[in-house]
Amino acid sequence: MYVSLIFSTILVFYIHGGLAINCPKSPAKWCDNKNIAKACGVIEQCNKYVWKVRDMNDRVNLSIYYETLCPDCRQFITTQVWNAYQSILSIVNISFVPYGNAREIYRPETKLYQFYCQHGADECYGNMIHTCVIYLYPNTTDHLPFIYCTESTEGDVGTVAEQCAEKTTVDFDKVSACVQSRLGNQLQHVYAAQTDNLKPPHQYVPWVTVNGEHTEDMEQEAEKDLIGLICKTYKVI
Ligand SMILES: *[C@@H]1O[C@H](CO)[C@@H](O)[C@H](O)[C@H]1NC(C)=O
Ligand SMILES: *[C@@H]1O[C@H](CO)[C@@H](O)[C@H](O)[C@H]1NC(C)=O
Ligand SMILES: *[C@@H]1O[C@H](CO)[C@@H](O)[C@H](O)[C@H]1NC(C)=O
Repeated sequence: MYVSLIFSTILVFYIHGGLAINCPKSPAKWCDNKNIAKACGVIEQCNKYVWKVRDMNDRVNLSIYYETLCPDCRQFITTQVWNAYQSILSIVNISFVPYGNAREIYRPETKLYQFYCQHGADECYGNMIHTCVIYLYPNTTDHLPFIYCTESTEGDVGTVAEQCAEKTTVDFDKVSACVQSRLGNQLQHVYAAQTDNLKPPHQYVPWVTVNGEHTEDMEQEAEKDLIGLICKTYKVI
């Protein structure tokens, strides 16, 4: 008993490099740093409820206002956004808003919105597919590969979407059901309203906001070096 107490004291001394840390009385301090959390035996809890949440809130908010068939949008998403996704996802919160230069009219007789898109009905279909995929798979790691696949593949919108669903974790039947439903119509309307409420109003697509703001310089930098722009913005106030 006595020997094992001496032994564990030496062990603690050894682990902390000669500077044993005591757990503070006030729980408010328990997650101050890793060593304190360790001394209090709450590393797992601090990680789950404090550190991860803090990291999430520090992420740069990037919103991409786009329409599915516009060549510049395809170019931006399949190069800049895809590269950022693959390398710096841990510091950025990417939100897609598939609507762009479309217009909507509310039809009281059906209680549905009717959408008119720059590149025709096919684009409206593509926008609606993206809208439903984002809704059904809210985690970026689940919907971004699908968006990347459809934007990098030419061809019939429905066929491409079906092929891309097969290659990713997307269930095309579920997406189709959403696209044809009132819910899909409503979800598309939410993106329409979000796009129409942009300040300043968007003048072209793709249109990016970083932490809710848009400037011409920012847009140009995003299209040239999105990773650089996000890294520069991260935690700089
Ligand atoms: C990520 O962006 C979405 C949409 O703008 C927002 O609702 C959400 O709170 C953001 N999450 C974080 C962790 O910033
Ligand atoms: C990102 O957006 C969320 C939700 O609007 C907000 O809580 C958070 O503070 C934003 N992050 C930054 C870095 O502005
Ligand atoms: C999103 O998915 C990734 C990879 O599967 C996972 O590590 C992460 O915890 C998920 N995020 C959320 C908010 O569920």
